[in-house]
Amino acid sequence: MAEPSPDEVSTSVYGSSWAAQDLPRLDMPELEMPKEVAYRLIKDDLTLDGTPTLNLVGYMLSTAELFAHRIQASFVTTYMEDEAEKLMTDAFNKNFIDYEEYPVSADIQNRCVSMIARLYNCPTDGDAAVMGTSTIGSSEAIMLATLAMKKRWQNKRRAEGKPFDKPNIVMNSAVQVCWEKAARYFDVEEKYVFCTADRYVIDPEQAVDLVDENTIGICAILGTTYTGEYEDVKAINDLLVERNIDCNIHVDAASGGFVAPFVNPELEWDFRLPKVVSINVSGHKYGLVYPGVGWVVWRDPEFLPKELIFNINASFTLNFSKGASQVIGQYYQMIRLGKRGYRSIMLNLTRTADYLASALTKLGFIIMSQGNGEGLPLVAFRLDPNNEVASKHDEFAIAHQLRERGWVVPAYTMAPHSEQLKLMRVVVREDFSRSRCDALITDLALCMKTLRETDAKFIKDHQQHVKENRGRTKLRHKINKHYSKEGHSLQGKHGKTHAVC
Ligand SMILES: Cc1ncc(COP(=O)(O)O)c(C=O)c1O
Repeated sequence: MAEPSPDEVSTSVYGSSWAAQDLPRLDMPELEMPKEVAYRLIKDDLTLDGTPTLNLVGYMLSTAELFAHRIQASFVTTYMEDEAEKLMTDAFNKNFIDYEEYPVSADIQNRCVSMIARLYNCPTDGDAAVMGTSTIGSSEAIMLATLAMKKRWQNKRRAEGKPFDKPNIVMNSAVQVCWEKAARYFDVEEKYVFCTADRYVIDPEQAVDLVDENTIGICAILGTTYTGEYEDVKAINDLLVERNIDCNIHVDAASGGFVAPFVNPELEWDFRLPKVVSINVSGHKYGLVYPGVGWVVWRDPEFLPKELIFNINASFTLNFSKGASQVIGQYYQMIRLGKRGYRSIMLNLTRTADYLASALTKLGFIIMSQGNGEGLPLVAFRLDPNNEVASKHDEFAIAHQLRERGWVVPAYTMAPHSEQLKLMRVVVREDFSRSRCDALITDLALCMKTLRETDAKFIKDHQQHVKENRGRTKLRHKINKHYSKEGHSLQGKHGKTHAVC
């Protein structure tokens, strides 16, 4: 039989070379495939699931996108192609955990786990299943990874006849709040390496020095929430190996997991390092899927104790029911874009972030994030104390001014021991085009001009007035008074404010 002709724009979906092959299942494909083809092939694949009757239109997502376009505080995806939205809305009525009814959705999860683990250089045994699962986001993934580290440590201590009631975990004080939660919810003592006025990442030496016989693991962050910097996972790994310390690393790659492999493939932070045993990533951040989907993968089943797996659907999750849409959306993005597609997007975002950083420097800000692809595509910045505006106002006043112009670029107080440093952060997401970036720079320059010309008291009074009279503030969730004076967290104890994810 003659070979099928090379694909052309006019080739129909079923006449294309992709229709003649199985769908990618193990490795993320090297090249893109046309969106019509990706859509149709996944759609056809999914028809083998039970047939859903609900077919909601995608207008809710599109409306959300309309409002989201000036929110530059969040990492979470606000744009997906129509084809992805269609697939996701078609799956709205599928309960993901019902593997009997929706076996293809379950298999799609396994394909995603496999692709992600291989992207992170997980040692694999041919096509044997790698260990991992989808979650609602990185927070659930981190809870699961913490439980796995704790159980494994306990099992080892029990077998050695040693006490196993005082586990601890070592991490940077700039961790996302989910780490504090994981430690607290699962009774693990938090051991912090504190930031300083000019270091916002973990110090590898200090981290390894904190390890003792009760340490269940070290958390290293690939892209911290505040400054987007990558922590030096290799240095921690090498110190542990050098000192022959029996302690492993979990990498929190919530944001960096879909950036570093494409922008900075030489950087060694993943399973190439022998001490890295588990990694989490948020699919809904640079994985380019609407919220909520996350992933956690393990180097080897050895690091995921058997007692945590329930053979009802082989599940390892904190919840039971959830929608199937997000997992399907992730699969769409991975096979539609392929590695080259992700690389093109992440490189564009990196260039935009560098462009924004240089414009902000000219406006009188100090840049706290790394450029040139050495960190996440975001710009963290603070006022130069020598800037005229800094004599009267702080970053919170700038955030307020921007808000009045429709931009959500909040200010934060940095992690403890960094002298209450204030900073602002712009996350460069897929839909933050160069022209939108220019609009932000123009508005920021106008805000600075307004602040230069206005006295501090007027701005403070105005801020207060807006706060008291803004209708939507009343809709804000108010915490029960019983819990209002929370003092156990880094925020409660040190005034660290948590950035939006
Ligand atoms: C480093 C880091 N870890 C964990 C999380 C929590 O992720 P999720 O919102 O997916 O639960 C975030 C959120 O931004 C993060 O930046």
